[in-house]
Amino acid sequence: MRLLVFLFACLLACAALPHCAEAAKARHFKWEVSNMFWSPDCEEKVLIGINGQFPGPTIRAKAGDTIVVELKNALHTEGVVIHWHGIRQIGTPWADGTAAISQCAINPEEHFTYRFVVDKPGTYFYHGHYGMQRAAGLYGSLIVDVADGEEEPFKYDGELNLLLSDWYHESIYNQMVGLSSKPMRWIGEPQSLLINGRGQFNCSLAAAHTQGAKQCTGGGNKHCAPVVFPVLPNKTYRLRVASTTSLASLNLAIGNHKLTVVEADGNYVEPFTVDDMDIYSGDSYSVLLTTDQNPSSNYWISIGVRGRNPKTAPALALLNYRPNNRAMKLPAVAPPATPAWNDYAHSKAFTQRILARAGTPPPPATSDRRIELLNTQNKMDGGIKWSINNASMVLPATPYLGSLKLLGLKPTLGASARPAESFGRGYDVTRPPANPNTTVGDNVYVLAHNATVDVVLQNANALAHNVSEVHPWHLHGHDFWVLGYGEGAYNGDAADAARLNLRNPPLRNTAVIFPYGWTALRFVADNPGVWAFHCHIEPHLHMGMGVIFAEAVERVGEVPKAAISCGATATALMAGGDHP
Ligand code: C2O
Ligand code: CU
Repeated sequence: MRLLVFLFACLLACAALPHCAEAAKARHFKWEVSNMFWSPDCEEKVLIGINGQFPGPTIRAKAGDTIVVELKNALHTEGVVIHWHGIRQIGTPWADGTAAISQCAINPEEHFTYRFVVDKPGTYFYHGHYGMQRAAGLYGSLIVDVADGEEEPFKYDGELNLLLSDWYHESIYNQMVGLSSKPMRWIGEPQSLLINGRGQFNCSLAAAHTQGAKQCTGGGNKHCAPVVFPVLPNKTYRLRVASTTSLASLNLAIGNHKLTVVEADGNYVEPFTVDDMDIYSGDSYSVLLTTDQNPSSNYWISIGVRGRNPKTAPALALLNYRPNNRAMKLPAVAPPATPAWNDYAHSKAFTQRILARAGTPPPPATSDRRIELLNTQNKMDGGIKWSINNASMVLPATPYLGSLKLLGLKPTLGASARPAESFGRGYDVTRPPANPNTTVGDNVYVLAHNATVDVVLQNANALAHNVSEVHPWHLHGHDFWVLGYGEGAYNGDAADAARLNLRNPPLRNTAVIFPYGWTALRFVADNPGVWAFHCHIEPHLHMGMGVIFAEAVERVGEVPKAAISCGATATALMAGGDHP
């Protein structure tokens, strides 16, 4: 009887919804994470792959679907988690995949099931979020199409996917030891840039146009075979571009072709057309490209480094016009040159053209709270850290989602119980810190349910004179509106307020701070959970460049025990029996 009533209710609901017959579905995946030998740039190393693949399998779903990933950790001696970058995890904060924040690391030989809804179409990716495992190759694409019966607000004939990353020959263990050594040993620049996990070290596909480079001969190694994208003439393609680099900020250009940007981080933007585009770690975009060039030639896709004096050769791929049957026919001309690494005016011009698509609702006009986060590089006990309002983030043994929910644990680490809400107005962002010493903190900001929160990220001079770097900040659990960018120190005066765009700011999950500048963000704390907010540069995060937003934790539903059966919450779960 109950079942009948239920079925009848379903039918009624169905009648009310268009395209109900093709209702959202659950998509199941079984994944095994393991170390394997691989040659991403033709040099053999050990990396972390999934089901024997690198990059990991692409997840493709439709908006509204439930993704179920049964993960087995087959690493020999270390834990693992996977974060679904750009998926907000509405109502499922325990599936966010952040070690020590949303869940316990999954032990070797253990299983964990990630179950979450992909509610919004867009270009996303996933990656490891424990130590520096992302930089060890633990990543892949996650693409969400519009629900059946819905349409994208632009048309295209085909799709190309470019998951961009950078690659180091030193293992992440070497890198992590170096970063925490006293004195610190910096990881340096990556050896290669990878497109869909493939690159070429010590040779160039375009050697004929590159001084001192030798021509790549390939040698038949599939791991590092040049990437070729076949296209038909006079069509429009949607390029999905995402960057999961450890360090490098990138720029993409395609010989003879223009790019029209239509999506950023899973949100539609007002279309605009460029010759080249910047992509920071954590960003994703869709761009439209029309194959309107001479079809007897192929064209270079070139990806180079921005924001740091590059020691890494550009990654090259080929746009192969069909029926031009020689896929590897090299273009007669040189690949497009990457803009100068320190041409920040060029980067800012691109970034400021990204605006919400016409018709997108504007953000709330005012906010309830403003948190100002000063980013500084500091010294601590003979080593080097990145600090936020002079506290460098360290993570606890017991994941926050469990400890805050079950034990009501007050953050315990920081010098003060509450992290500083601002850095004060006196700080000189143009010089190295007057007092370079810092301490560690847990950097947990407690957010009230439904509060509208402004965050101002303030950049500053690093420890060395005349150095200030780009940092792409990424927020979990939310998109934010990027209200605006400014130069120098933010001081909240009328001139700063005038730089904010409340009319059509873009919604994103990653935003950059430019050298010596600030970036203002706004979001509504309407998704209870514990969310990381951090610089997406892997070594910077590892050196403490992040904070935690503990948002309306009292409203989080029952957390699956598998997520928090470790540390102090394991004990509490055991003592409390069934129901904590
Ligand atoms: Cu893609 Cu917390 O990161
Ligand atoms: Cu950074």
